[in-house]
Amino acid sequence: MSSLDELKQALSGTQRNTFFFLGGGSNILLKGDYDGLVIKNNIKGIEIIGETDEHIFLKAYSGENWHELVMYCVSRGWGGLENLSLIPGTAGAAPMQNIGAYGVELEKVFVSLEALNLETFGLEEFNGEQCEFGYRESVFKRRFKGKYFIYSVTLRLDKHPVIHAEYGDIKTVLAEQGIDWQNAGIKDISDAVIRIRQSKLPDPKDIGNSGSFFKNPVITPSHFDTLKSQYPDIKGFEQYNGIKVPAAWLIEQCGWKGKRVGQTGSHARQALVLVNYGDAKGEDIWQLAQDIIKSVKDRFGIDLEPEVNVIG
Ligand code: EPU
Repeated sequence: MSSLDELKQALSGTQRNTFFFLGGGSNILLKGDYDGLVIKNNIKGIEIIGETDEHIFLKAYSGENWHELVMYCVSRGWGGLENLSLIPGTAGAAPMQNIGAYGVELEKVFVSLEALNLETFGLEEFNGEQCEFGYRESVFKRRFKGKYFIYSVTLRLDKHPVIHAEYGDIKTVLAEQGIDWQNAGIKDISDAVIRIRQSKLPDPKDIGNSGSFFKNPVITPSHFDTLKSQYPDIKGFEQYNGIKVPAAWLIEQCGWKGKRVGQTGSHARQALVLVNYGDAKGEDIWQLAQDIIKSVKDRFGIDLEPEVNVIG
């Protein structure tokens, strides 16, 4: 569907629990066949809705491809989205889980969104606070799950961008390209992020995957201290009222990295990405996920939670 009217038409007469919205399909796992209505979002458009000396306010309709939106901004010199280059999916899915990568999360540039209330069919506006953003979280994954359809997203871009090069390999990759990070522009950052993602993360077009399968767990400082005494190499980042531990490291320590189980496996360059080598079914991936959850729990006492949207 490519308009709100088409959406309303498709939904009238449909039970709330018998449909789901499909964006780019890059962050879902279907555990089995889905016996309901799948609504593919094809609502497109990008509009400049405001401008000051410092900022551009851009409204993107939810079916827009995320990476194309990032490129639209980068090519015009508008900063804010460059660290979020090459994330698969749609603009509408971005606030749903407050997408983040390489030191930036969507909430940093987010102004507001419009969402269709699926009970009243009224269009409602949500600001950042009302979206209750967290790490890969928003109110639309919790309290309002299944209650709204995100129609458009408004972002604030910088005309005089300040770059963010502090995460991971960005500075190293810039240096390899002969760029001093302090003089880097947003195109350089975007190119570096694309390079890093292409080197670590398998392209879903080549091999089935939905990016990070689990969230990075946040544990208590005392749990972290106990683990640190047993595993001196463990990394932790103070965040979200606790210590965030890389799930990829936990999974790798349990021996899963690069391991293949039938047609499924944990990816050889990024243990957090579960892949489908060809004919695996949703239930096979789900079984692998359960086995990984169990071994991480047994060894580290940590509960991994899926980051992907599991349906069925
Ligand atoms: N690491 C391992 N083994 C691995 C991979 C990584 O031990 O196989 C360690 C690294 O040494 C590093 C740490 O884990 O210290 C973090 O690794 P990385 O920078 O690759 O990021 P991540 O925490 O695994 C998160 C996001 C990604 C995002 C990257 C970059 C989550 C769940 N995932 O991954 O997002 O691209 O940071 O910012 O927060 C996604 O959401 O689908 C996604 C790909």
